[in-house]
Amino acid sequence: MGDNNATLFGMMPGQWTPAVPLTELGDDLVPLEIAGERLVAFPSGAEDWTVLLDRCPHRGAALSLGRLLPDGVLQCRYHGWRFGAGGQCQRVPFNDLNDAALTKIRATAIPSRMAAGCLWIYTGTATDSEPALPDTLQGPPRGFGTYQQEWNAHWTRAVENFIDFTHPPYAHRDTIGAYTRDFAERGGTAHIEIEERDWGLSMMNFMGSRRFGFRLDWYAPNMTCLHFGPGHQLHVYSIPINATHTRVMTVRALPPGQDQASWEARAAGIDHQILDEDRLIVESQPGDIANADAEISVATDAPTLRFRRWYRQHVLHADQPQPVTRSTVQ
Ligand code: FES
Ligand SMILES: [Fe+2]
Repeated sequence: MGDNNATLFGMMPGQWTPAVPLTELGDDLVPLEIAGERLVAFPSGAEDWTVLLDRCPHRGAALSLGRLLPDGVLQCRYHGWRFGAGGQCQRVPFNDLNDAALTKIRATAIPSRMAAGCLWIYTGTATDSEPALPDTLQGPPRGFGTYQQEWNAHWTRAVENFIDFTHPPYAHRDTIGAYTRDFAERGGTAHIEIEERDWGLSMMNFMGSRRFGFRLDWYAPNMTCLHFGPGHQLHVYSIPINATHTRVMTVRALPPGQDQASWEARAAGIDHQILDEDRLIVESQPGDIANADAEISVATDAPTLRFRRWYRQHVLHADQPQPVTRSTVQ
């Protein structure tokens, strides 16, 4: 693939992330930007989508300017080269290439999967791994409700916001934080317990009493699962678009028999308000947490400090040999 691809997706290399909800996929090309790379997705088979770097291997034109031919083949708009499933070139106009010659021409394919209501991509060109999904997004086929916002923020700041237990009484003082504001203001203390899992971190926050806690799980690299109660989990993905923009997407597995439209309308209303409150804060923060050395931390910042350690190991120094497997947090 050459050196060009060595730095692909440098903001978040070697990870699975949802890229776009299935509800946004129709029967045409979909341009995407993930972790600073421009991509194009297109339906290349009955239940199959192909994702390519949005860069024609001929002269680098954006493949998303092209068109989708009826047989699930993408045709570049510049010189009409045709690319099928997996980026394989099928035809080069004006040139009588045999199959052996055509086989050597490929657009750069990005591994993708359909899972949990989204089209997922791997931020690299090859992998043996699969997306890590919590139990709450697995199981028999069911509906998923999604809601999205685009934030002017670096993805790491968004992730930190969603693994931060102590901001609700202030950032969400009139909504989900109203219940703990008095406790916080009257000198109540919190205690956070963190367990390492092969997919990330499972965390409990205990306020005052150690008997009742609020649980959230962080799945590397960019998902938080908030456990509001039995059967009610909210999954929040912080999907890097580029250095200054992040797509924040909430995903709920819909209860069996739930009317999808009414559920989504209700969920979107709640999520819209709460995420607007988070967005106000996160957009005010300076960019990448890589430059956050001057920030002061306390005991209740343990979750974000754990994330920063993972980020340093797996993103900032991803090119160096790692003492632990990619999904292990230390
Ligand atoms: S640049 Fe795509 S066919 Fe020439
Ligand atoms: Fe929040």
